[in-house]
Amino acid sequence: MPAEQSIHGQWSSRWMYFLAATGSAVGLGNIWKFPYIAGENGGGAFVLVYLVTIVFVGLPVLIAEVTLGRRGKRDPVNSMGDLALEAQVTSRWRGLGWLAALGGLLILSFYTVIAGWALRYMWEAASGAFVGFNSTSSVAYFSAFTNSAGALTAWSTVFLFLTMFCVGRGVNRGIEASLRYVMPLMLALLLIMVGYSMQSGSFQQALQFLFAPDFSKLTVNVILVAMGHAFFTLAVGAGSMMIYGAYVPAKLSLPRVCFDIALADTLIALLAGIAIFPLVFAHDLPVGGGPGLIFMSLPIAFGQMPYGTLMGTVFFLMLTLAAFSSAISAIEGMMTVFIERWHISRSRAAVLLGAGVWVLSLGTVLSFNHGSDLTLLGKNFFDLIDYLTANIMLPTVSLFTALFVGWVMSKENVEQAVLANNRGLFNLWYKTLKYVSPIAIGLVFLAALDVI
Ligand code: TRP
Repeated sequence: MPAEQSIHGQWSSRWMYFLAATGSAVGLGNIWKFPYIAGENGGGAFVLVYLVTIVFVGLPVLIAEVTLGRRGKRDPVNSMGDLALEAQVTSRWRGLGWLAALGGLLILSFYTVIAGWALRYMWEAASGAFVGFNSTSSVAYFSAFTNSAGALTAWSTVFLFLTMFCVGRGVNRGIEASLRYVMPLMLALLLIMVGYSMQSGSFQQALQFLFAPDFSKLTVNVILVAMGHAFFTLAVGAGSMMIYGAYVPAKLSLPRVCFDIALADTLIALLAGIAIFPLVFAHDLPVGGGPGLIFMSLPIAFGQMPYGTLMGTVFFLMLTLAAFSSAISAIEGMMTVFIERWHISRSRAAVLLGAGVWVLSLGTVLSFNHGSDLTLLGKNFFDLIDYLTANIMLPTVSLFTALFVGWVMSKENVEQAVLANNRGLFNLWYKTLKYVSPIAIGLVFLAALDVI
């Protein structure tokens, strides 16, 4: 389908597409989630499984999802309907689009709460609140903050409002310009933090923890969480990459740009881990400290390092902006369903979805205070939504994406959409997507269900 037929805009260049897709991939998942789940799941072995799944499952499915978007050119549900029709298979494949869009919505409901923390920490860093922080004061500070449902709601609401405002005005306009600065600055700051941690933290111990795999820590659940995170961090399985794929510049070759996205995303996560764990060990913070890990460890560094107030402010500003470009993409799948399938105006869709996400977000807010004891299967509301999206919905959508692009679509159509400039690489990807990725996801699922 020629690009002119697209009802969406186009990214203004290859570089802008790369930035936007990287902006979607790089976010809280890299800097907040990766370190804390690596900590909870024993470090090295988890990191290894995560890296392996990025290569053999995450990246191939990422290319496949962008392919669907590029050929489908519509919202996830209509795109899947059209592509199923084209391949002469059942229109039930639309369910894939629904599941993806719903996953994005659920993800945003907790994402906005954590992004609210980043926003608040930016404010606090700027006002010098972290000066002289040690581990006791930092942990106490974090618990006092998260104990206040009102404060969490307020900050999360500010973030959600800004996100939905931008989404309501259309994707192309707002984010392209800001992304140009956020990604490079984020990288620079992480490097500075790594440098600081190298000098004043327990650097050796951190490297050992992150990169020396202790396979006795490897359980089926650890593998499931590592795989789920590979999808989460690449923004695969919730329609984001499908929608962004619909905006892809006409001549761009997908494997190369997707490889770059995955590489940038992985590097940033690893740098975040290398920056944070030396502090965690040096200040005797609990490695499995959970979702608060970076919010308890980083302020100590900012409180003690030269120019810490400035560094802390800019760091949390960058984190907020990185979260912002991800949040926008997470809801864009459902946005386009509202707009293109139900013919609701963009601004109204933003208001409706914003309200829905806001209500759901209260569940996550309460998970950190009044509702922390309210659990199902040992998980509070936040843990449940996180588990449901990252470990069940994203892998399911990814599995069926691999099956659809690998087995249902004709190879010619796939080739035409992928525009690989190297035949050998195309075939390598195609075979991996057809066999390796679905079998890997299927096996992990079966193992998790205790079938094997
Ligand atoms: N990848 C983002 C992060 O790591 C979050 C995100 C944005 C996402 N869009 C998504 C996750 C779609 C899964 C699916 O922070």
